[in-house]
Amino acid sequence: MQTEIKQLFETRTSVRRYEYDAIPQEALDTIYTAIRNSPTSYNGQQFTVIDIADQETKLKLYEITGQKQIKTCNRFMVFCADYNRIGVLAKAKGISMPEFYNTLDGFTVGVIDAAITMQSAAIAAQACGLGCCCVGYVRTADPSAVADLLKLPKGVFVVCGLAIGVPREHPDLKPKLPKDLTIHQSHYTDRDMTAELVAYDKEVTQYNATRSGSKSENDWCDHILDYYREAMKYRMLDAAKSQGFDIVK
Ligand SMILES: Cc1cc2nc3c(=O)[nH]c(=O)nc-3n(C[C@H](O)[C@H](O)[C@H](O)COP(=O)(O)O)c2cc1C
Repeated sequence: MQTEIKQLFETRTSVRRYEYDAIPQEALDTIYTAIRNSPTSYNGQQFTVIDIADQETKLKLYEITGQKQIKTCNRFMVFCADYNRIGVLAKAKGISMPEFYNTLDGFTVGVIDAAITMQSAAIAAQACGLGCCCVGYVRTADPSAVADLLKLPKGVFVVCGLAIGVPREHPDLKPKLPKDLTIHQSHYTDRDMTAELVAYDKEVTQYNATRSGSKSENDWCDHILDYYREAMKYRMLDAAKSQGFDIVK
């Protein structure tokens, strides 16, 4: 069992191309169990998943985001932070609901819960022999169009999507940063990391130039900074506000 789990982590990659096959019901049940039994802050379960199987909705999300894997996957699951549900119960019980969702920590709690459940779903999917890919563009591309399409009430905010399907590709493993740069022992080791970072940047450049499938001349650093440059345009505070999260402190 441990060997299987070890192998699962050693071979995990994002999968963006899928067969037409449906996901077996047993696998779907396992994914749902993994989602529902994820750890959440205070066991408040500040998340909701919209599981999308119908092609029409997937196509609309593809049109909004430009992410092909949304239209070709068998299921597209959208993981959201959710304070609507507890609000319903508080109202029914006549309890005034503290505006925790309007604090940065409240917002973060919802985002963490949604992200953890997404990762549980991803691991469960992979353990069932399926492939998946997170899709952040479902949050950033056009937040109000996605909220309208998915009929999200106030108090529900899209965090990330997960495309799931029977894999049609087995992409090469991407090189990752050396262990010592991402896992520190006991405290943050603020040493000169330049040489190792430069070496990693070269390793990624080499990988991108020689990997199977589409090749590129991208390095790691500038490619990631390009993403940051693009992402500077996103207005997530406005998007959060229009979903009822008026973050004030
Ligand atoms: C929060 C998050 C959002 C992501 N959004 C997208 C996306 O919108 N489109 C996409 O093709 N890949 C997306 N990815 C996948 C990453 O590009 C991928 O994990 C990364 O390149 C590392 O590759 P690997 O997963 O194969 O190791 C996302 C991953 C995460 C964790």
